[in-house]
Amino acid sequence: MNAPKITDSAQLVTAILEEKERLNADRLFILTDEHTDKLCLSILDCPRLEPYCHIEIHSGDQNKTLHSLTAIWDMLIDEGATRNSLMVNIGGGMISDIGGFAAATFKRGMHFINVPTTLLAAVDASIGGKTSINYQGLKNEIGTFSQPDAVIINTDFFASLDRKNRLSGYAEMVKHALISDKELFRQMMAYDLETFDMSQLRVLIEKNISVKHRFVRLDPYDLGSRKALNLGHTIGHALEAYSHRSQDGGLLHGYAVMWGLVAELYLSCKKQHLDKEVLLQMLTFAKENYGAFPFTCKEYEEIYRIMVHDKKNDAGRICCTLLAGIGDVRINQNITKEDTFEALDFIREN
Ligand SMILES: NC(=O)c1ccc[n+]([C@@H]2O[C@H](COP(=O)([O-])OP(=O)(O)OC[C@H]3O[C@@H](n4cnc5c(N)ncnc54)[C@H](O)[C@@H]3O)[C@@H](O)[C@H]2O)c1
Ligand SMILES: [Zn+2]
Repeated sequence: MNAPKITDSAQLVTAILEEKERLNADRLFILTDEHTDKLCLSILDCPRLEPYCHIEIHSGDQNKTLHSLTAIWDMLIDEGATRNSLMVNIGGGMISDIGGFAAATFKRGMHFINVPTTLLAAVDASIGGKTSINYQGLKNEIGTFSQPDAVIINTDFFASLDRKNRLSGYAEMVKHALISDKELFRQMMAYDLETFDMSQLRVLIEKNISVKHRFVRLDPYDLGSRKALNLGHTIGHALEAYSHRSQDGGLLHGYAVMWGLVAELYLSCKKQHLDKEVLLQMLTFAKENYGAFPFTCKEYEEIYRIMVHDKKNDAGRICCTLLAGIGDVRINQNITKEDTFEALDFIREN
């Protein structure tokens, strides 16, 4: 599992061609959605990549489906892809998830590399080898653990991201800092999200990538220490899933994770004696940047019901990752219904 590389638009094409040569791949397939085709693929010197076959699918998590997957497989078959062909996934987490799954299962596995175009995909989804599609309304229900042959990050792509998608990715970056390093957390809290300075962000991205890569390398199949990366996600996933039922379009993943982080830091203070200052700092940061907490106490029961069905649970008990301090992670902590309601009340009442 190689560490992700960071490049710019000019170097990216060279990096893709080098991977093709290193893997001795016979053909190149480029997967995009309609946005990453227009905003990302189009700013690359594509003639240098020729000959290649472009596969485009509809954007958004609602299209991370069996239908899109079969469209990719069909195109690979029609164009004569082999096990030795290379798929390049140019897009956000939706594209790396479904493109990775398509490649991992095509003829029992062809080469693939991820070229993330969202901040969330760069620091999180493109790294770690989890591939998937949604199925029967369940998120990431069908998938594999399949490591990409490479991850190549071009920070130039982030210039076209809207504010919400920038903030969504930033929430995962804050999580990485919380589970790893006080100094990184300080830097993350100090970064000005309004100006979104790219050179400072690039430094933070590099540190974030190494955090994610380190946890994945130690526990590639998510059996133990990698669960640190679930911080904020037990409650966050339930808020996200619930929001998709009751609100227009639902919350972006990172917004739900941000509220999940505050809730789970509250529980960390209660159960693991985390310093309250960390919790208060995160609460202020979330309110200033992610807006008001969008749920009422009437919605807790339903949110809790979703948590009970989470695939991270163990024998019917809700399993959560908590912190005893920044970088001091406690996995497999049981939390109760009362704990969950109390944590949500804390956010709502503050
Ligand atoms: N495999 C993992 O470990 C993992 C981890 C986290 C999330 N995920 C998955 O990742 C997905 C979320 O990732 P995401 O937030 O990147 O979503 P996404 O891929 O759906 O991208 C969000 C939107 O931004 C657009 N976009 C992409 N790049 C752009 C750019 N440079 N400029 C402007 N617009 C751009 C996309 O077309 C899409 O409309 C979900 O499907 C989630 O389940 C996977
Ligand atoms: Zn996440």
